[in-house]
Amino acid sequence: MNVIGVHTSPGHDMGACLLQDGIVRCVIEEERLSLVKHALPNDAVNLWPQYNGCFGYFPWASFAYCLDEAKLSIDDLDAVVVPAFPGPAFAQIIPIRDKRKVLIADVPEGAQHHFMHALSAFFASDFEQAAVLVVDGDGSMIPGEGYEAESGYAFDDRSGAYRTIFKNRYLERGIGGGIGWMYDVVSAALGFVNTRIGYLADPGKTMGLAPYGRLREGLSAPWIRVDGFRLDLSGFNDWARGSGIDKIARYEDRSRALIQDENHIPDYAMDLAFKAQAELERAMLALSVELHRSTAKKNLCLAGGVALNSVANGLISAQGPFERLFVQPAAGDGGQSIGLAYYGHLKLRSDVRIKPIAHAFAGRLYDENEVESTLRAAGLGYRKLDDEQSLADDAAEALANGQIVGWFQGASEYGPRALGHRSILADPRPTTMKDHLNSRVKFRELFRPFAPSVLAEHAHEVFDLRQNSPYMLLVAPVRAEWRDRVPAITHIDGTARVQTVDRNVDSLYARLIEAFRTRTGIPLVLNTSFNLRGMPIVESPRDALRAFLFTDMDRLYLGRLDLKRPDPLSLTPALSPEWTLNLGIAADWRQREMVSRGAFVFDGGKRSVALSDLPRLDGADIPAQDEVNVVGRFVFALDGETSIADALKATVSEEVNQSLARSADLLVQALLRHGILRLRVGSVEL
Ligand SMILES: [Fe+2]
Repeated sequence: MNVIGVHTSPGHDMGACLLQDGIVRCVIEEERLSLVKHALPNDAVNLWPQYNGCFGYFPWASFAYCLDEAKLSIDDLDAVVVPAFPGPAFAQIIPIRDKRKVLIADVPEGAQHHFMHALSAFFASDFEQAAVLVVDGDGSMIPGEGYEAESGYAFDDRSGAYRTIFKNRYLERGIGGGIGWMYDVVSAALGFVNTRIGYLADPGKTMGLAPYGRLREGLSAPWIRVDGFRLDLSGFNDWARGSGIDKIARYEDRSRALIQDENHIPDYAMDLAFKAQAELERAMLALSVELHRSTAKKNLCLAGGVALNSVANGLISAQGPFERLFVQPAAGDGGQSIGLAYYGHLKLRSDVRIKPIAHAFAGRLYDENEVESTLRAAGLGYRKLDDEQSLADDAAEALANGQIVGWFQGASEYGPRALGHRSILADPRPTTMKDHLNSRVKFRELFRPFAPSVLAEHAHEVFDLRQNSPYMLLVAPVRAEWRDRVPAITHIDGTARVQTVDRNVDSLYARLIEAFRTRTGIPLVLNTSFNLRGMPIVESPRDALRAFLFTDMDRLYLGRLDLKRPDPLSLTPALSPEWTLNLGIAADWRQREMVSRGAFVFDGGKRSVALSDLPRLDGADIPAQDEVNVVGRFVFALDGETSIADALKATVSEEVNQSLARSADLLVQALLRHGILRLRVGSVEL
């Protein structure tokens, strides 16, 4: 039986999940295919097509990807499940012959969004029965009663029968909403907003910043009062309005955000992050205690966007009343499609048992021939390693030597965490590794920690962990004797967001970590997601190639192919036509600096990149006053046919020494990441 759940918008994190006879066969989020984070176009609402008078976005790419991967035609499906809103509109446009196969996940009392989260968590777990806590910004809405934001459920068996234990609704979104919105409003006020989309906050950054803060006078009154399941957020709401934070937390306007320069974060911003995190933890823990009291279950499942707060999850695991905790790997709305697919399965064949997930690797497999033909088309050299063990040994050697390794293996993982299939790996030992990774590959805020992947059998030696954490969604203390040994993955408060790796689930990744342990005595590696800053995690070999060449990663393993980095000076990038170099006029809050050093300006000035934010050309003694002109001439000489070496010779210096070559390489990488330059290698357009 083939059931596909399709998470459409309005909303974000659209995607599809194919379930075959109760087993998750394929899950993909649209962002991995559209290359736009959270899968929303820039001017989302305007660009969304209208379906029967209802705006929305149907993730066709994800839908087709699942069918392709399972080699199914649309009419092989037994059901296509879409959300209740705007389900009926979509039902009309799905080109399936038998329209009765389109199921609308309609749950009584306008509660379908949280219920899909609950299904996605409980049925993915291996629990026979459990309580489920769902917490997110806003789910389904009932006019006059508001949006669901915190819900509790009890599942007594795996038949699909359930009880709703509680549901908190709020009339407002933003200030006046529940826990999720409290955290989002603070994140937006801090300036942690997904700038490409403009209205989604980036709460993971607030969580990373929180341990730098402390309880500040003036912020000591409680924001949330808990009474049973009921949360009273008037403390936060009053404070937010009184402090003016409501005006700062404008998602589309960063100019008043509390953090303007991530290298100089005001104490107040840190203390605010600390406060928001403390309030979130207290409320989550209280809800889980109450849910335990009401249901008497031993097991708890968590889902909803707030369940991505791995610090709160760690606390519930360590201090909460439940024996076991399961957090859905795609706990945010990226997991809605899984809940929708389970819903369809239960509607059609509740007698066929839904199998727990064994792992989160449910993307398509790219076979070696396909990868090799891409590399050949690009004219890129590579070496093929004999088997899993030699691959693991080779990569472990590179890691132990301090190299930054791109690791692209098997099917992609779903959810926001890279789990060793689309990962960038590094040595956790050097204190300098965090800065090294940030300055060469990740370019993210320096306060954010990197996470470890540890062999499951060694996890408890290194971390104070009550249970396994296969999806990297639990934060736990690093044991005191280990903190100095693995500083690159130890956060300022001595904790780490742990992924435990089980050799029975992912033998290759476990082999790699074991090979690293043999060399270093350390049973873990640093694991960060394989992506370009602000972009989704890579899905295809071509995406991986792009991220490899647009950053200063040392190695890339595509399966057992060890790619050779081409001579950077031989590449022939081209200036994208929509960018121009503007020598002075680029008005925004950094105007002064831009005027002095010039800026690349895009599309009539909507986006600009100051030269001062780009790596400098070294080794050619360029007088400061000529810098803008020299860089400009160099970049304009890059026309897609001229190599970087020839462009340097023609515009910067007849003699290209090592330092000039290296700095030009870094400058070109930065321009590629901004989209100011484009790159074609062989016949492959990146
Ligand atoms: Fe949600």
